[in-house]
This record gives sequence, structure tokens and C-alpha cells, in this order.
Amino acid sequence: MVKDGRTVLSSIVASQISVHAEYGGVVPEIASRKHLESVSFVVEQALAEAGVGLDRIEGLAVTQGPGLAGALLVGISIAKGLAFGRSLPLIGVNHIEGHLLAVFLEAPVQFPFIALAVSGGHSHLYRVDGIGRYQTLGQTVDDAAGEAFDKVAKLIGLPYPGGVAIDRLALTGDPQAIKFPRPLLHDGTFNFSFSGLKTAVLTHVGKHPEAKEEGINDLAASFQAAVCEVLTKKTAAAIAATGIKRLVVAGGVACNSALRRSMAEYAAANGVELSIPSPPLCADNAAMIAVPGDYYLGLGMKSGFDLDALPVWPLDKLAARLKEHC
Ligand code: KG4
Ligand code: ZN
Repeated sequence: MVKDGRTVLSSIVASQISVHAEYGGVVPEIASRKHLESVSFVVEQALAEAGVGLDRIEGLAVTQGPGLAGALLVGISIAKGLAFGRSLPLIGVNHIEGHLLAVFLEAPVQFPFIALAVSGGHSHLYRVDGIGRYQTLGQTVDDAAGEAFDKVAKLIGLPYPGGVAIDRLALTGDPQAIKFPRPLLHDGTFNFSFSGLKTAVLTHVGKHPEAKEEGINDLAASFQAAVCEVLTKKTAAAIAATGIKRLVVAGGVACNSALRRSMAEYAAANGVELSIPSPPLCADNAAMIAVPGDYYLGLGMKSGFDLDALPVWPLDKLAARLKEHC
């Protein structure tokens, strides 16, 4: 629960990680069922922890997409029920927009800024001119950064979610031990590609099976270094090309300690104002959805009861929605 779109009164996260870990990744059908099991409890807990009754709620923001349709529909259904039952305004919010604006819950950032969204489904660079005004500068052409962490972790025998496990092992590994490729680093675009890197890890462990055993810390650190270098240098190129010296890094992969360090070093050396949310606000959470939600509801924008899940919903489309309203 969030007050004025800026102050977190409560933030309840129902993790399904232990359930999906058994399968080595998210199983869509199980995700929807688990959402259904926990959603009422999460809403009740959010109200209880904030010490606020439903009668004090002024509006509802719900994740409309992108993501798994079944899981999205669970949230949308309960939000519609509450909106109808309490005659509250409801707004559908883009999940990635929530990630990009999560940092506003800790400190405001001036527009325009460059944003790097790195999560299980996204590796995107955006120019952000205001809430609702996003332009994609580049994106992954295959796997997202988080997906690469998870897939590499799986193939070297680490548990899901792989990013956390790789980050931990890499702390005591040598990032220069293995020279993994830096895909698309010099292609002149702001796009990323991580699937070749995953293949490079597979090839390496095929030739050097010991890399998965006593060499696993070096392997983790070397893979992580390749991902972080590409993410940092491409982001630096976007900042150089646009001349916008403000940067937000967001999404679950922004929890990565090496990425946070690499971005901080780059920013300090180049006079770039860097904002990265604290780890709980980088990972998926509901509070971040309230930031754009509060803004849009404040403008008088509302979703109707025909609000439907949007499994694919590029951020660039939001500007048209905003323009239509204003
Ligand atoms: O944003 P998020 O919580 O969910 C999505 O919207 O996808 O991101 C989840 C992703 C997973 O792929 C997970 O492995 C990755 O974020 N992740 C990390 C770390 N913590 C989470 N990746 C690298 N290092 C971490 N410390
Ligand atoms: Zn996310």
C-alpha cells in the first residue's frame, strides 16, 4: 500500500520461488494457482500492516501486463472486485513501468533519464521523458539478462532463481579466469544478445568439466562479468548518444552486486547521476505499481471493467494512451 504515490505504507510479497525451484523455472499453470491461493491474504496483510481499512483506499492500481496471462488475470479479477464493491477508480499498469519508477519510492529522479530494465523477461534500454513517456532505444534480440542468469545456473547445476546463486558464488571467484564473449558490444546498436553467452558457458563446461566443480566460483564470476560489462557499456553508449546524464537501473537483475558496482563506477567516472532502487524494490513488488497508478489516477485516467490482461505490452504504447486522455 502506497500513500500519495511515493510513501510505502506496506509491501507484502508472496514468493513462489520454492515451488518453482523444484522444476528449475516458473511453471505458468502453477503460478496462476499459487496467485489465486495467496492474493486475498496478500491484500488483507497489506491493509493490516499499513493499519488502514478499505474505507481509506482512494484508488486501485493493478498489473495489467506484460507477463503470464493466467497470473495477471488473478490480480485483475480481485482488483475489479474491490473496485466494483467499493466504487473505487481502477487503473491497469505496465509491470515494466512499475520497475522503472520504483526508485521514486526512495528518491525522486528528474526527467529525462535513461533507464535500463533488466529482469527475467526484459533487457531494455529506454529514454524516459516523463511518466508514461518511454522510447525504446534497444532491447535483447534473444534471452533477457535474468533468463541468461537462470539458464546458465541451471546448466551448471545451481538452483532457481539462478541470478542469486551466481551472484553469491561470484563473490569469491575470479571474473577474468575465463574469457567469455561480450555479445553485440561493438555492433553500433543499443541491443543485447545473451543466448550465445549461454552456449559459450555450455561449450566451456563440455571441454572443462572441472569448471562445474572446484572451478564453479571462477565460472560464475566470469559469466557474470561478461553480462555486466555488456549491460554497462551499452548503457554508457546510450547515455553518450543522447547526452542525458541521468540513469535508472531497475528490475530483478539490478539486485546483482557486480552490476550495481559496475554501474556505480561508470557513473562516478563520467559524471552520471545514478539511481538504483534498494534490492527489495528491484525485485517484483506491488508498491512499484502504485507509482504510475497514482499518477494516472491523479490525471483522472481510469480503466473500465473491460480491463484485460496484456501478456505483451511494449512501453512505447503508453504515450498514445496518455495522449488520448490529455
Ligand atoms: O524483476 P524480477 O523480480 O521478475 C521479472 O519481472 O522477471 O526479475 C527476476 C530475475 C530472475 O531472472 C533472477 O534470476 C534475477 O532477476 N535476479 C538476479 C539477482 N537477483 C534476482 N540476477 C542476478 N543477480 C542477482 N542478485
Ligand atoms: Zn519484474
